[in-house]
Amino acid sequence: MDSIHIQGGVALRGKVRIQGSKNAALPILAATLLTKETSHLQNCPRIADVYCMIRLLRSLGVCVRWEENGVRVNAKSLQTDELVLGNMPTEAVRSMRSSLCLLGALLGRVGAVTMEYPGGCVIGERPIDIHIAALKQMGVVFAEADGMLTASAQTLHGADITLPFPSVGATENVILTAVMAEGTTILRGAAREPEVVALCEYLEQCGARIEGAGGQTIQIEGTGQLYGTHYQIPPDRIVAGTYLFGAVGAGGSVLLERAPIQQMEAVLELAKQMGAQCDLTTEGLYVQMETRPQAVPLLCTAPYPGFPTDLQSPALTVLTCAEGDSVIEENIFENRFRVVEPLRSLGAQIELLDRHRVAVHGVERLHGTVMEAKELRGGAALLLAGLVADGESIITGCSYIYRGYENICKDLRELGARITSV
Ligand code: EPZ
Repeated sequence: MDSIHIQGGVALRGKVRIQGSKNAALPILAATLLTKETSHLQNCPRIADVYCMIRLLRSLGVCVRWEENGVRVNAKSLQTDELVLGNMPTEAVRSMRSSLCLLGALLGRVGAVTMEYPGGCVIGERPIDIHIAALKQMGVVFAEADGMLTASAQTLHGADITLPFPSVGATENVILTAVMAEGTTILRGAAREPEVVALCEYLEQCGARIEGAGGQTIQIEGTGQLYGTHYQIPPDRIVAGTYLFGAVGAGGSVLLERAPIQQMEAVLELAKQMGAQCDLTTEGLYVQMETRPQAVPLLCTAPYPGFPTDLQSPALTVLTCAEGDSVIEENIFENRFRVVEPLRSLGAQIELLDRHRVAVHGVERLHGTVMEAKELRGGAALLLAGLVADGESIITGCSYIYRGYENICKDLRELGARITSV
């Protein structure tokens, strides 16, 4: 099933439950390597990126078992001799950026690891210089040969580290290494994303001593041993935001059950600027949109708590049919406007001002056509465009979308969309 067919022009009505967070689940799955006891991760999303991470863990000898409401992991039998991640399915390591958090976890558990350079993707080259510079301060020595990266440390020790940019992955890798290092690590300029907070919550439940998660400075005390635990993966704020912009673009009224509203301040602010009514209820986020969206003069992406780069493309879709002109500035990735071309094929009027900015002139109608997804969030944005456009749209390359969205077609169908995956 790699294409999705949509008959657009239908308002969304009803309620949908928001899945567990992909970007919280992935580093937490890596963190289960740090203990020989069992962890039970409830609400773990059943998506391709999680399946890929589980395949990587199993290739290292880790026991992973899906259950009714989550996944049970035990890394007691991790193969800790000369650990060469190269014996993992290489296409998995290359194709998924999130395998990078295995670097920190394996350094913490084993103290040495060799892995393929993790994959970049169309949104950017995704360097790892910030990760390497930070981990070197903790005693890790790196070498590179034939596209393989080797990292090892005689002893991992704490350090006072300042990140030049609040990289989410680098923050997570330092934390995963520091919880097992000797002494105290102070991480300054840390990423503040909720997924970093979730990772720290999980590790604290395993016995780690971490202070300041969610702030710019995090302090981690190295501990000799961590334990298993039960942890509930929090809801996915990017999936919630994707459905929110679907409702803003298509119109209607939807209840996003369990939406992590407290993590969506910048997103809700934009939706209100576009004319949506957003009400916080005990069940979740209730969104009503009965008029054509309004343009916004300038939308800038930024590290959390700013507007998330992962919702930039879904927001762009809405602005293509808003009343008025908008400018979007992408400040996190260097190539996150790949979705402009396919949106233009629907009739959108978008001008690339430079590598980081686009100008959007809102049009009354978009008309359905065939589009190809080239990456996860851009693919989701094209799906939203199909909901908004008149007539039939067909989106191919949907395996990108299924990397992060557990039931996007089923969810939207339950909200009244005329959508089928084939
Ligand atoms: C995480 O990626 C997320 N992925 C991304 O979500 C998200 O867009 C991103 O954080 C920003 O919020 C996961 O959590 C699995 P970064 P990550 O390190 O950790 C540059 C999705 O759709 N950089 O914060 O890779 C980098 O090139 C994905 O779910 C360096 O230059 O993001 C980028 O331009 C997409 N050197 C910027 O920093 C480094 O060593 C942000 O990267 C590391 C990063």
